Amino acid sequence: MARVSLPITTDRLVLRSFRPGDEDDVFAYRSVASVVRYIPGEPKTREQVEDLVSERATAGRIDEQHPNLTLAVELDGRVIGDVLLLLAGPDGADGKQAEIGWVFAPDVAGNGYATEAARAITDVAFREVGVHRVWAELEPENTASARVCERLGMRREAVFVKGSWFKERWTDLAIYALLEDEWPTSAATSAPAP
Ligand SMILES: CC(C)(COP(=O)(O)OP(=O)(O)OC[C@H]1O[C@@H](n2cnc3c(N)ncnc32)[C@H](O)[C@@H]1OP(=O)(O)O)[C@@H](O)C(=O)NCCC(=O)NCCS
Repeated sequence: MARVSLPITTDRLVLRSFRPGDEDDVFAYRSVASVVRYIPGEPKTREQVEDLVSERATAGRIDEQHPNLTLAVELDGRVIGDVLLLLAGPDGADGKQAEIGWVFAPDVAGNGYATEAARAITDVAFREVGVHRVWAELEPENTASARVCERLGMRREAVFVKGSWFKERWTDLAIYALLEDEWPTSAATSAPAP
């Protein structure tokens, strides 16, 4: 079992487990249609956000029984987004590969917060969880997300044309990835350069 040491502190952000009291902040972005356009599910109701916050109070545990580690990203006491680390199943070589993802409030866009948080969770994946490969899946038209991958140094390895049935339509699917030995050994917690 891997237990990630929380909170994770970066130059500007704190990544931590969700906790009661986060509901208003999370509802503010998870209820917005444009925010969930490229992620599974519909805009969340207040009730769904309450469930989501309580389900994600994980205390940093990530293993085969709890493959999903989603952390709240806090800026000056406000939850501005969340980042996800999802261990691949048994066919993913015993949890040695993980998918990463991110969702942030639109009003904080354009400041590098998503990149800073994604870097921190990637660092945790390689150094604490011990995965061999981290990947991200996205629609290439989600250029903001693609740029986060690129700023992390991920390689665009594939684009499956109309390879994904998502939200009632066929969409292109890009795969970005990074290997452990490609991840810089220097600290990953500093704010990225604009
Ligand atoms: C994907 C998403 C997280 C990207 O957010 P973002 O604000 O573009 O990303 P960052 O926070 O890393 O900010 C990067 C931008 O800030 C700018 N910036 C300003 N100051 C910066 C700094 N100190 N460091 C880094 N970038 C900085 C960068 O130049 C960059 O601008 P650009 O996009 O014009 O190149 C956001 O669009 C989102 O939450 N979308 C909805 C959910 C979603 O689609 N998730 C992904 C599903 S695959």
